[in-house]
Formats: sequence, C-alpha cells, structure tokens
Amino acid sequence: MRTNTTDRKAYIITGPTSGIGLATAFEVAKHGTVVLVGRDREKLSKLEKALDQKGGRAVSVVCDLSDIASVRRAAAEIIALRLPIAGLLNNAGIMQMGVATKNALGWDMTFATNHLGPFALTEALLPHLPDGTNVVFIVSAVEDPERKPAVAFGFRGGRYISATASAHAEWQPGGSVKPGMDSYATSKQAILAATLAFARETPRLHFNAVEPGVNPTTGLGGDSAGAFVRFLQKSIMPLLVPLFMPFMKILSTPKRAGRVITKILTDTSGRTGVYYDEGGHPMQGSALVRDPKFQDRVVTETRALLMAVRG
Ligand SMILES: NC(=O)c1ccc[n+]([C@@H]2O[C@H](COP(=O)([O-])OP(=O)(O)OC[C@H]3O[C@@H](n4cnc5c(N)ncnc54)[C@H](OP(=O)(O)O)[C@@H]3O)[C@@H](O)[C@H]2O)c1
Repeated sequence: MRTNTTDRKAYIITGPTSGIGLATAFEVAKHGTVVLVGRDREKLSKLEKALDQKGGRAVSVVCDLSDIASVRRAAAEIIALRLPIAGLLNNAGIMQMGVATKNALGWDMTFATNHLGPFALTEALLPHLPDGTNVVFIVSAVEDPERKPAVAFGFRGGRYISATASAHAEWQPGGSVKPGMDSYATSKQAILAATLAFARETPRLHFNAVEPGVNPTTGLGGDSAGAFVRFLQKSIMPLLVPLFMPFMKILSTPKRAGRVITKILTDTSGRTGVYYDEGGHPMQGSALVRDPKFQDRVVTETRALLMAVRG
C-alpha cells in the first residue's frame, strides 16, 4: 500500500478508530498521508501502527469533537503540520439510543459532536485548505421525515428550531419517542444543510455529503446495547449483512462505504454541493434541507452560537 513519496497528498479523517471511518482510513491510505483525528490517543497510535504495517503513512491529532476548544486546538495542530491537504472527511458521529447526554457547556452531546464540532473544524481549517480541496461530510438520510425505512425505525426527521434550541436539546414537537433519535436526525440535517450552503459560499473548495447506507456492524447507537447485542454486531452481523445486501439497497458494510467515500474524497472532477447515496450516486435530501434559505439560516445561527464559545 506504500504511497508515492513524491506525490504525497494528505487527507484528514475524523472518527477513524471504528466502523466506517476505520475502513475508510485504510482505503484513503492508498492515496496519501492520513491525518487521523480522534479522541482516544491509544486507539489512534494503534491505528497509526496498523496503517504503517500496510505501507501507509499516518499522523494523529487528538480531538474531542463535542468540545469546541479541543476542536480549535486540533485545527491549529493540523495547520502547523503544513501538509499538502487534498481532502477533509468529517466522519465522526454518535447516536445516543440510551440516555441523551450533554457536553461540558451543557449542550446536547449529539448535536455538539455531529454538527457543531465538524462545523467548527471545517471553518477553522477553511482558510488553510488549497483550492480544489474536497470537504466531505458523512450524513444520514434519517434527516428526511419522508424516508420510509427511517420512519419505520422510529425516526421523524430533523426537528430543527434553531441552532441554540438544538444545543439545548429542544426539538420541534411531533418527534420520535426517543429524544436521542430527534437529536441525531436534527444534527445530520443541520450538517447537511451547512454542506450545501458551504458549497454555494466557497466555490474554490468542493463540499459534498454522503449517506453511507445502513451499516449495522459499526459501533453507532451501541451506547444502550448489552453484551449480547454487541456480540451479534461483531460476530454474526458481518456474516449476515452481505447475504441481505442484494435484496436491501440501503444495507452496506464499512468496507463498501469506505470505498465509496474514498472515491468522493479523492475525486478530481470539481463536483460540489452533491449529496451522494450509499452507492455513490446523487440523491435528494428532505424538502427542508434543499431550501437555500434554511441552509443559510443554519449556517448563520451556527456561526453566531460558536462565536460565543471561548477557547
Ligand atoms: N452505521 C450506520 O448505519 C450509519 C448510517 C448513516 C450515517 N452514519 C454515520 O457514519 C459516521 C460513522 O459512524 P459509524 O457507523 O462508523 O460509527 P462508529 O463505529 O461508532 O464510529 C464513530 C467514530 O466517531 C468517533 N467519535 C465519536 N464521538 C467522538 C468525539 N466526541 N470526538 C471525536 N471522535 C468521536 C468514534 O471514536 P471512538 O472510537 O473513540 O469511539 C469513532 O471513531 C457517523 O457520522 C454516523 O452518523 C452511520
């Protein structure tokens, strides 16, 4: 897998220590240096070694995406590396199926991790990214209240009131029975809206979003899973998923998602403002997220909220 040292582009990946991000890190390492951005130093150095054994090159930056001060420190560290960045993959994310927790500022943990953190990281890096850099966000189709499989699973789409209301875990009424699901759908809707607004605002860079498909073998939503469910996820599910994939278009595996995401992250066609499905084909988001007025409102409100955070 060793990359050509004379043409070593660098790709930043958040959440590379598990699931889709992990599979993507190995795939991206075939194209250049990987900047691994994660919250657990030990996991990061293990991954660095594993990539090195495969002939890849990686550097690690510790960052807790739910903590804006940590995000800003990580961005400064990445900039100081002075690498020729060609791509930024905002992949890290959580879905709390058990108790919905809060960050140190008292903000909804899911909204902070899935929307505010990636938004702050992207904006801090933005002026330092060379023209043509691909910025990719991993989102989720559960933001769309018309998405039938998501509704069947209990989601009711994004429930955005405002960025401040979301930070305070306040959602539009009529949502899911689990607050964590409203929080997840809203955070993904907000970051998808921001992706589409960024694409219009900054044409010198390319901003795209990917719905990676339903990947039941990853750690997502595992906060309330008992030992038995975790066992199924790790040992049985990886065998079952490929059998069902031909019949269920939305099912995927981290390996497949990693290949699709890497293609988009390393794309040189200049495409921007595209929302891709699990197969790497353009798809449509909810009616709300497609509305440029909504996209701009999310961006303006998020910037105002983040400006108030010191550090
Ligand atoms: N799985 C699916 O079916 C599915 C469907 C649609 C979208 N997605 C999206 O795909 C992305 C990857 O999820 P996954 O399914 O691969 O889940 P996963 O296996 O749980 O991986 C999540 C990654 O995010 C990192 N992370 C979580 N909180 C963080 C924080 N505060 N700061 C820094 N890193 C943090 C985790 O780090 P640790 O290793 O330290 O925990 C891990 O590396 C997420 O954005 C998710 O919403 C997944």
